[in-house]
Amino acid sequence: MKRKTFLKATGITAAAVALNPSSGLAAGNTAYDNKVKMAIIGTGLRGQNHLDLLLRRDDVDLVAICDISDRMLGMAKEIIDKSGKKMPQVYTGNDYAWEKMLKEKQIDAVVIATPWEWHKLMIIGSLDAGIKYVGTEVMLGITLQDHWDVVKAAEKYNAHVMMLENVCYRRDVMAVLNMVRQGLFGELIHLQGGYQHDLRGVKLNNGVQPYGGGCEFGEKGFSEAHWRTLHSVNRNGDLYPTHGIGPIANYININRGNRFINLCSFSSKTRGLHDYIVKTCGPDSPNAKVQFKLGDVVTTSIKCVNGETILLQHDTSLPRPYSLGFRVQGTGGLWMDVSKTIYVEGKSAKHDVWDDQKSWLDKYDHPLWKKYGEDAKGAGHGGMDFFVIHSFVESAKRKLPTALDVYDAATWSAITPLSEQSVELGNETVDFPDFTGGQWMYRKPVFAFNDDF
Ligand SMILES: NC(=O)c1ccc[n+]([C@@H]2O[C@H](COP(=O)([O-])OP(=O)(O)OC[C@H]3O[C@@H](n4cnc5c(N)ncnc54)[C@H](O)[C@@H]3O)[C@@H](O)[C@H]2O)c1
Repeated sequence: MKRKTFLKATGITAAAVALNPSSGLAAGNTAYDNKVKMAIIGTGLRGQNHLDLLLRRDDVDLVAICDISDRMLGMAKEIIDKSGKKMPQVYTGNDYAWEKMLKEKQIDAVVIATPWEWHKLMIIGSLDAGIKYVGTEVMLGITLQDHWDVVKAAEKYNAHVMMLENVCYRRDVMAVLNMVRQGLFGELIHLQGGYQHDLRGVKLNNGVQPYGGGCEFGEKGFSEAHWRTLHSVNRNGDLYPTHGIGPIANYININRGNRFINLCSFSSKTRGLHDYIVKTCGPDSPNAKVQFKLGDVVTTSIKCVNGETILLQHDTSLPRPYSLGFRVQGTGGLWMDVSKTIYVEGKSAKHDVWDDQKSWLDKYDHPLWKKYGEDAKGAGHGGMDFFVIHSFVESAKRKLPTALDVYDAATWSAITPLSEQSVELGNETVDFPDFTGGQWMYRKPVFAFNDDF
């Protein structure tokens, strides 16, 4: 299929569906009673969250799982046993067991939750195997070329690659999307967000537990300490932009009437992980000698073609309570998530005084949350994990484009290699590639326009 036809298929159809909530797509509609045959590659801690959510659904038939770690597979099998569902076929034994799985099993949709460096290979491998729905954990790839390769592969196979960016579905984030769409903040001017999360105990642990208890990483680390920390040793840039940029991109219709033009990143000095090792394990601990390349706080500015500015921050190596630091500001007012406040000129209780966000967020609660809030109870990250899996499965079941597509995934995730490039070049401003090939001018917003998925 030609690029233009593909874009039409993945953009316009979805727009038509999303903008027409009465188009007969309500969950449970008998037309969609087919089961989706699914598989998971990577049943580590994140994969197990997805596993739990997939097992709860009657419209999913989990046919296979794959991992290389006996411990992680053991944990996954326990979850499956407890669910009472049939044990799927388990693929393991070497780094490429997933290729055998893709070849042998009939799979409609696959979820990938492995270390970042595997995503591109596994996404393209799944597409090559004929799978039409690929849900990958954040990030899409490592290099800029990886991102292009995934976009080209999705286009070649007319398949759907959705990055499972759960923060897009956070309840406050979605209520604010509702407010943005109803014009409460006026025309948007400036947005902020990021990943501001003390990951010292995730990047360094004792090899037994996932959080803290030691200073090991790499071969001796468990879960993310096994692989993620090496990115902090070897790379310097915004290594995890999508939780911040996903919601922001939806607010200002990136790739759908708007696009990022360029970015510029600054990286601070590097102290946090070394200090943590010295404090936790002593100055003579072998890892106290490790030189981490990643700056403790990486700040990125992005300019958009419609004139908005964005400030993104990556801050994972210092003591700090969790916050993604959202700020959504327009000609009529703003939301700031750190202070949990909103101000809307002419509508807030007092002139020039913040309102507590609660009454606004309750009033503008998104229809999806109103409908599925109960189902989401108990799902990870305050319930938002339910929605991202729900959306992916519903798209596969109905054979519709995913609400977040390969262009969104590539554009958000490409911030990492671009930011590394900017830092490397002495904070030079670098241009954003246009993964849509100019189609951003014609594509329509499709994300979460109704209470369906
Ligand atoms: N969206 C979120 O909120 C969120 C939260 C946590 C993690 N994540 C993302 O999820 C992904 C996985 O992170 P995690 O925390 O589960 O890490 P993890 O280390 O706990 O799990 C990764 C799993 O992948 C397996 N694996 C590695 N190479 C493999 C291969 N070749 N074949 C099969 N399996 C292989 C590992 O054995 C491990 O079980 C990452 O992309 C991470 O950024 C997202």
